[in-house]
Amino acid sequence: MALLGVNVDHVATVREARKTYEPDPVWAAAEATIGGADIITIHLRKDRRHIQDRDLRLLRQTSATDLNLEMSLADEIVEIALSSRPDMVTLVPENRREVTTEGGLDVLAQSKRVEAAIKRFAELGIPVSLFTDPVEQQLQRSADLGATFVELHTGAYANAKAGRPKEDTLTALEESAAYGRRLGLVVNAGHGLTYQNVTDVVKRLRPHELHIGHSIVSRAIFVGIREAVRQMKEIIHRAQADGRGRQQEKQP
Ligand code: PXP
Repeated sequence: MALLGVNVDHVATVREARKTYEPDPVWAAAEATIGGADIITIHLRKDRRHIQDRDLRLLRQTSATDLNLEMSLADEIVEIALSSRPDMVTLVPENRREVTTEGGLDVLAQSKRVEAAIKRFAELGIPVSLFTDPVEQQLQRSADLGATFVELHTGAYANAKAGRPKEDTLTALEESAAYGRRLGLVVNAGHGLTYQNVTDVVKRLRPHELHIGHSIVSRAIFVGIREAVRQMKEIIHRAQADGRGRQQEKQP
């Protein structure tokens, strides 16, 4: 069963809009866990625009699920990550002006730094995921450098127009997922996934984990986080059961 990582950064974004104490992403993480989240994800950005050091510290102490720390390769953040020891880390590019993580990490251009970080986390037994675009050379290098996971960036798929453009992005993701698995990588997927578009990703990519934030937090405004997570898990489960049924039909 694909695992669901729930990104609670947007809860912190609302809090930081007023620089107050509510809503608390730590509380949100507990509610998401009750709703069925398998992993809680936070991104401690260098500019601390949403998640704060206090959130990481408290989540480390209280989270009943695995904690995935999204992070850039900035020295300060790497040191914080090493000392807080999350269950896994996801290396992402970070650009001050972006509204959200825009593209995948350029593993080819940053090989040395990525490799050094993977080694340091490996010494503590912390697996590293690289957030990459569905590009063969990026996946090949990710495997060469010793990454455990790649998280395929599904943003282009999420933003593509319905019909041929969307199908093309899905095919590229599907082929990359298969290629990544052949390289021995565990393949995850995330970014821009919604209640409407996640089904095809589950069926075609067969990811190990899905990482979803904005859509779940948006729905949570109306139905609460527990229910929003529960609904997302139900869609994922249904897609997976459907996908399995189809595979069995194909077999002679
Ligand atoms: N995965 C990664 C690596 C991300 O950077 C983000 C955005 O923080 C997500 C998943 C979640 O994306 P979204 O909020 O669009 O669901």
